[in-house]
Amino acid sequence: MSVDSQDPVPFVDLALQFSAMDAEIMDAVRSVAEKSSFIRGPALGEFEKKFAELHGVRHAIGVASGTDALSLAVRALGIGPGDEVITVPNTWISTVFAISHSGAVPVFVDIDPDTYQMDPVALESAITSRTKAVILVHLFGHPAPMSQIVAICRPNGIRIIEDVAQALLAREQGGLAGAIGDIGCFSFYPSKNLGAYGDGGLVLTKDDALAEKLLRYANYGQSGRTMSGFHDTVGYNSRLDTIQAAILLCKLPHLGDWTEARREAAVKYDELLQDLPIKRPTTAPGAEPVYHLYVVQVNDRDACHAYLRENGVMAQIHYPMVVHLQDCYRNLGYKEGDFPVAESACKRTISLPMFPEITTEQIERVVDTLAGFVKKADA
Ligand SMILES: Cc1ncc(COP(=O)(O)O)c(C=O)c1O
Repeated sequence: MSVDSQDPVPFVDLALQFSAMDAEIMDAVRSVAEKSSFIRGPALGEFEKKFAELHGVRHAIGVASGTDALSLAVRALGIGPGDEVITVPNTWISTVFAISHSGAVPVFVDIDPDTYQMDPVALESAITSRTKAVILVHLFGHPAPMSQIVAICRPNGIRIIEDVAQALLAREQGGLAGAIGDIGCFSFYPSKNLGAYGDGGLVLTKDDALAEKLLRYANYGQSGRTMSGFHDTVGYNSRLDTIQAAILLCKLPHLGDWTEARREAAVKYDELLQDLPIKRPTTAPGAEPVYHLYVVQVNDRDACHAYLRENGVMAQIHYPMVVHLQDCYRNLGYKEGDFPVAESACKRTISLPMFPEITTEQIERVVDTLAGFVKKADA
């Protein structure tokens, strides 16, 4: 498929990825339909096995979405009313909803201004006798400072949930994101680094007892993967569809190459953006990001966003409002200024087009357009 130089630069290009895998994916979908193995079919078991092996962890359980993965993780850790769970205010809302749905109270801490990840010093000072868990978000595909956070949480008996929705295959000090804490929660939302053709998610754990609980909650409160009809827990119906698992199985062997392609695109952006007055992504020592998003900081972000889109560069904003100031969390009593680093990042960051197939020409066009905005703003 050729890219016309006048075509807009998309934020992601899922149709292009599909066109390269069309026959293989349609065969996989057809096979599920022919076998009528829509629910807990063999492709799901195979995908879960491969995903667990990839992370060197015993248990991978496919669930209906990344949002469900987080909610199930909080439930499986026995967290509920009276408990506090610490997380960051710059994340997709699902991270925090998982805490609220359990009846526990979300407690926010600020982030590092360079990596946008949880600040371990802020975490330490937010711990109280009610703190039961931390949900770390490996935001934008850069890993959170896991080693420092593990060192703070473990002696205090605080459980660690990793929100790996944006960071599949990212590493921190050699450890794979999602395989370090107690439970790793993944999303296969279509535009994620490994995307399904609909919603999908997965929980990962080394702990046999936690795996059993996760499975029970996800399977209507029944034991294991059976449909016994005996429900000893009030559970949920949260499954990864076999069709989605079959598609993910086709894509999984390409994930390594796609991740490298994202890293190469990031290097190209870094190189071309170095003379512009914008803040590029920073990689912490020992971190190996996977660039789910390539996020920069600019002055007058909203005008920049509008200018880029008017000029055919489909940039996006992640996220337009920090969670502690969302209407749904007014009851928590936070106010503007409580988390100045996250609030400032929220007003200044913009995500540039990033996907494995992005071409050098497309990156050049993004950078040229950004340069045009900077020049216009300076004039
Ligand atoms: C950081 C983060 N957490 C959680 C989620 C929720 O995942 P899902 O859309 O699969 O429910 C997403 C993605 O949407 C995300 O980016």
